[in-house]
Amino acid sequence: MSNKVQIFDTTLRDGEQVPGCQLKTEDKVIIARELEALGVDVIEAGFPISSPGDFLSVVEISKAVKEPVVCGLTRAKKEDIDVAAEALHHAKRGRIHTGIGASDVHIKHKFRSSREQVLEQGVWAVKYAKAKGYEVEFYAEDAGRADLTFLAQLTEAVIAAGADVVNIPDTTGYCLPHLYGKRIQYLMENVKNIDRAILSVHCHNDLGLATANTVAGLIHGARQAEVTINGIGERAGNTSLEEVAMILKTHQDLGLYTDIKSERLYEVSLLVRDLMHMPVQPNKAIVGKNAFAHSSGIHQDGFLKHAENYEIINPADVGVSASSIVLTARSGRAALRHRLSLLGFQVSGEELNTVYENFLLLADEKGNVEDDDLIVLMANQPVLVRP
Ligand code: KIV
Ligand code: ZN
Repeated sequence: MSNKVQIFDTTLRDGEQVPGCQLKTEDKVIIARELEALGVDVIEAGFPISSPGDFLSVVEISKAVKEPVVCGLTRAKKEDIDVAAEALHHAKRGRIHTGIGASDVHIKHKFRSSREQVLEQGVWAVKYAKAKGYEVEFYAEDAGRADLTFLAQLTEAVIAAGADVVNIPDTTGYCLPHLYGKRIQYLMENVKNIDRAILSVHCHNDLGLATANTVAGLIHGARQAEVTINGIGERAGNTSLEEVAMILKTHQDLGLYTDIKSERLYEVSLLVRDLMHMPVQPNKAIVGKNAFAHSSGIHQDGFLKHAENYEIINPADVGVSASSIVLTARSGRAALRHRLSLLGFQVSGEELNTVYENFLLLADEKGNVEDDDLIVLMANQPVLVRP
């Protein structure tokens, strides 16, 4: 089994479903080109039957990108698959992503159907999509809560029907990492024809476990991760692309890798933030404003002595120009001296103590102390070595 993890980006489909994040086709094409440059393997470009705009976006993205597979979502319905096949016509490599609910909750309360009928419809949809000449990925919606024996039967049946990839979504973000990992392991060990397909992990973040579940699934044999930039997505969001890429890069001991050019991550994050009008929380891993900012005295002192004391990722590896030292009332002398030296003020010993006392008064009043504040502070010091 290969150790390469395929990155399936669904920012433009699952991410774009978020209220307020809808994009025009031109903007979707801009993001798709950036995703291609980032090195994603698959771009889920939309749900073609859902609206004329989504259909057009899948058409235009199919024309615009060359390397990634372009994917269109469908339900397990003839009309959805026909429309997706048409939308993907220009794709160099197209994929139809079809599927149906697999948990008893969905089977009973969404489809008012039975396991047997769901299996039959899933198999039919895969065969119908495959006959269109595209790659086919099958999703077993709500697989995180599905009966595991039934999930294995369904997986085996859709692979036999021609599915190239089987997606095991934790649609409701319900699973715990060790149990989701075990689910993937069970399928790897009990589905007879599993060597003919790739298992894909698609996790939602309702309990804040999307990334942990995704990684657990990869450790247990899945080789495709379905992710979005900034973790954008329905409700609490999807697994974030940048987190998965950097976890695999940081933990090389896992023996897994992606083709993501990580130094482009920050730029793509900003682009998605701006075009989708969806702010990124400051403490978001990898791309948040504070991801490489040090603000407490103990951390600042350790960081200034040796960056690895408090950083496990070099900011340049994700396209962030530099770490930052934020000056607040929790900062220490080392950080203040460092920042003053960057402004050209060399201060030490007793003089530093005096400046530091005045700095603390200012910081208590202002919160964050900026460079301009420091220049004023220094102008008001009685005895100083000026730059
Ligand atoms: O979360 C989910 O189950 C999905 C499927 C449509 C793949 O987004
Ligand atoms: Zn989803």
